[in-house]
Amino acid sequence: MKKITKAVIPAAGLGTRMLPISRTVPKEILPIVDRPSMEYLIREAVGSGITDILIITGRNKEAIENYFDYSVEYKDVLQAKKKERELADMEEVCSLANIYFLRQKEAKGLGHAVLCAEKFIGDEPFAVLYGDDVMAAEKPVTKQLCEVYENYGKAVVGVCEVPYEDLKKYCSMKAEKIGERTYMTTDMVEKPQTKEEMFSNLAILGRVVLTPDIFDILKHTPLGKGGELQLTDAMKELARTVGVISYEYEGKRYDMGSKLGFLQANIETALQHPELKDIFREYLKELSKTL
Ligand code: UTP
Repeated sequence: MKKITKAVIPAAGLGTRMLPISRTVPKEILPIVDRPSMEYLIREAVGSGITDILIITGRNKEAIENYFDYSVEYKDVLQAKKKERELADMEEVCSLANIYFLRQKEAKGLGHAVLCAEKFIGDEPFAVLYGDDVMAAEKPVTKQLCEVYENYGKAVVGVCEVPYEDLKKYCSMKAEKIGERTYMTTDMVEKPQTKEEMFSNLAILGRVVLTPDIFDILKHTPLGKGGELQLTDAMKELARTVGVISYEYEGKRYDMGSKLGFLQANIETALQHPELKDIFREYLKELSKTL
């Protein structure tokens, strides 16, 4: 089975759930304590054996590119101030992977963003990391999915159990268990509104590994919910024709595209941050007495 070395990170969405900040700061670069969330995604990809990453951006998303660009001004200042640790950190971040950028001229949906990556991907399987989902996991979630792909040779969607009342927001999977945390999926339904429509409480969240046949499917997939080209509509066709694997990954997902997810990521990361953890824990304990 071909090793997966390429990833696509769609990051061109308008982020309406994060308004008003998303009008000026891309949600994909919002901080988790002192690092932009996109750095966590890049590190996850690199830790999964990915060497080449295409970030799909759009208007007002230049801050993402700037962060991964080597900054000569900072180099000079950090050298002069003898801030060696910060300088080494900047150099490491700028050389994590081969990172490429491509603009999606209009935010026409996640499926359209993935279709923009066709030339970059060519005829290879590839990972998609949804740009506003940060994963905390011992083994990178993308790596978990790549290993499943290598076992089965089929597209793999990362799934989690979600409460039935929340499934209305997600894509519910028809899932027949075939192994530990692993299900054969032959159908799925996007944003089911009634319990009868729902296949299971397993929903796609944040990470998928796709085969290149998804591009031809995307090209003839009609526009779906919200007048956008939905990636799930194309994955549904893949499931119905050749089947996809659902894998219940191990890890915690933070939805950086929502205000609550942004706060949870920051508080939980601060509680582990080497410089902050003790003082922040004390602060939270004091604060909680007032709640
Ligand atoms: P979302 O559906 O969460 O992004 O897409 P959104 O449309 O920005 O969200 P809201 O509902 O308005 O807040 C998941 C990922 O796909 C990217 C987004 O940037 C996000 O990282 N995306 C979405 C694109 O790259 N292009 C699109 O047209 C849509």
